[in-house]
Amino acid sequence: MTESAWQTLFHPFEAGWLDMPAAGERWLFVGAVPGFRLPDGFAAGLTIVQGFRPWFNALAAAGFEVVPQQGGARGPFDGALVMLGRHRGENEMRLRDAALAVKPDGLVVAAGTKNDGAASFAKRLAQNLPAAEHAAKHHGTVLWFARPDDETCALGLPKPETAPLVEGRFRTALGMFSHDRVDAGSALLVAHIPAGLKGHVADFGAGWGYLSAMVAEKSPGVTAIDLYEADFASLEAAKANLAKLPVQPRFFWCDLAAETVTERYDAIVMNPPFHAGRKADPELGQAMIARAAQALKPHGRLLMVANRQLPYEQILSSTFRRHRLVAEAHGFKVLEAER
Ligand SMILES: C[S@@+](CC[C@H](N)C(=O)[O-])C[C@H]1O[C@@H](n2cnc3c(N)ncnc32)[C@H](O)[C@@H]1O
Repeated sequence: MTESAWQTLFHPFEAGWLDMPAAGERWLFVGAVPGFRLPDGFAAGLTIVQGFRPWFNALAAAGFEVVPQQGGARGPFDGALVMLGRHRGENEMRLRDAALAVKPDGLVVAAGTKNDGAASFAKRLAQNLPAAEHAAKHHGTVLWFARPDDETCALGLPKPETAPLVEGRFRTALGMFSHDRVDAGSALLVAHIPAGLKGHVADFGAGWGYLSAMVAEKSPGVTAIDLYEADFASLEAAKANLAKLPVQPRFFWCDLAAETVTERYDAIVMNPPFHAGRKADPELGQAMIARAAQALKPHGRLLMVANRQLPYEQILSSTFRRHRLVAEAHGFKVLEAER
């Protein structure tokens, strides 16, 4: 969600096209990120759905009621606000779920930027739901409709496609990192996991659980695996994907850039995130390397993969005893560091 997207979202209220939600009403706000400002006169209470831990924490600290997934929001609501993102399927899912959580005739208002493809999304929706209206404002598109009073909730909304199982066995969902295939960097890291890896291992930024599954399968000496991940939905998928591991995994919904890790590990595997939103952000990976250094036992090992050009060597030098390049291929590098 960019700076302009929330302004686009609230435009129909500010322009007077829609009535301001009144005091005593309860509205759902799916995908809100910190920093938005409600228009003057917007008096309804909000329940925010935000599964990304850094944003969840910031919204909760600002005093909002926040839940990490929509199932946790108790409806029905008087209306819903939905931030659209980059993934069409995820947008369809959010819109449908939001509409289902709203009382009949309640308003659903959604907005996204030009880059999110919000304009074409709104046009497509209008074909299925002729009552939906839309407008362009602040480099984005906002759309709105009243939820049809329809028992079956056949809202005319496009049915979201579900993500295929990755490698025939891993459950993922649209919008997660590498939701339709194993990431090439992660595959390279797995190819270089030493057979002798043992003890208590952590997977930092575990996504839907691929690295943990492979570590457990390749390394019989591993006795326990802890998964740390900021995206709630990815961690839920990982729980399902690792249900049959030979070791009992534990799951931590955690912002590794800001929250401390109290456990100490023999090894940490990691394919760190390199984007915050649309911007390349090596600082996030650097913060996770520093966190890994804190969370390893003396002589513990960090095994990580990254895009070749990302500048991680300096922080590895300053936080680890030694580090080395293990492999380089297809634009990725695998690095190993010892505490
Ligand atoms: C490059 S992906 C790797 C995912 C998975 N390990 C794999 O190999 O497929 C990086 C992961 O880090 C997560 N992430 C992003 N920011 C984070 C943070 N601050 N704390 C913890 N995890 C974070 C992302 O949600 C994403 O799942």
